[in-house]
Amino acid sequence: MKLNIALLAGDGIGPEVIDQAVKVSEAIAKKFNHEIVWTTGITGAAAIDAVGDPYPDETHDVCMNADAVLFGAIGDPKYDNDPSAKVRPEQGLLKMRKKLGLFANVRPTFTFPSLIDNSPLKRERIEGTDLVFIRELTGGIYFGEKGRRDEGETAFDNCVYTKHEVKRLAEKGFKLAMSRSKRLCCVDKANVLETSRLWRETVQEMEKDYPEVEVSYEFVDAVAMRLVQWPNSYDVLITENLFGDILTDEASVISGSMGLMPSASIGEHTSLFEPIHGSYPQAAGLDIANPLAAVLSAAMMFEDAFGLKDEAEAIRAVVNKSLVEGIITEDLSGNNKSYKTSEVGDWLANNL
Ligand code: IPM
Ligand code: MN
Repeated sequence: MKLNIALLAGDGIGPEVIDQAVKVSEAIAKKFNHEIVWTTGITGAAAIDAVGDPYPDETHDVCMNADAVLFGAIGDPKYDNDPSAKVRPEQGLLKMRKKLGLFANVRPTFTFPSLIDNSPLKRERIEGTDLVFIRELTGGIYFGEKGRRDEGETAFDNCVYTKHEVKRLAEKGFKLAMSRSKRLCCVDKANVLETSRLWRETVQEMEKDYPEVEVSYEFVDAVAMRLVQWPNSYDVLITENLFGDILTDEASVISGSMGLMPSASIGEHTSLFEPIHGSYPQAAGLDIANPLAAVLSAAMMFEDAFGLKDEAEAIRAVVNKSLVEGIITEDLSGNNKSYKTSEVGDWLANNL
């Protein structure tokens, strides 16, 4: 099979971890007889520096012409402490999500048996956790009207959702729940927010189309608590953009390291696969970042974008093997020997 993949390495540790994902993808392609055509594009601070736009049109064209997008990270500290910056790297990410119609962000949270004790949470709480958040990604407070009034003394960010947006997201949730343990949790704040009431009403209407799925409705504050108390009690969770942003960072603690968690953003035009860890600028260029989230994002890409399940499973298996054998970066190694980002990538590619 010929796989046309857009490669957006982005900022910070993005290029380093993406290099490893490419190595592993090439090794898989060789093993299963595929040909990968990579087309690169610039994003984020790198793109602001080059052309003044964090998501230039040329990059958008690269994505639109690809069957899938593999993405590293966006962000640069030189913009973080400058509220007056006119263009920011993160705008590139939001523009990319909107223009590619990446409305459903799928973020699985699972544990690796060999890493259970890396989590700050107790073993008996987290063992066996296997849940998936589907976060809405192109609506809500992120994209509502925002601004200032009263000579800048008052600021507002509107949260807006349409029924159509809720429905297409919830549909992903119901379908995923059907393929798993048939439990779906709708996370909202329907006791306070009108948008949440629209979410709840819409999901309730959809229940009759999926009679086998057992749906629960929980408030976001309670989920934030129960997620670290009894993560095992969840399977598929659907939620709006900001709640999903916050809860998925919280959930990454369960797995023991943010450096492990992949994600997929399912789009109208194409889908994008990225590690959830962000650009981690302190580690950029040091060859110490954990490449596994990027590698596991490539696995999601093989499965979700191309339907290549065996290829994805082979990647997950070699990742597991690297963890068991201690071929790990310093975020996971504690006092034991650690390996460089590139060494882990080489080891994975060689062991496929
Ligand atoms: C994420 C990030 C982004 C978000 C930022 C960088 C805009 O935190 O992908 O979760 O808030 O969505
Ligand atoms: Mn986030």
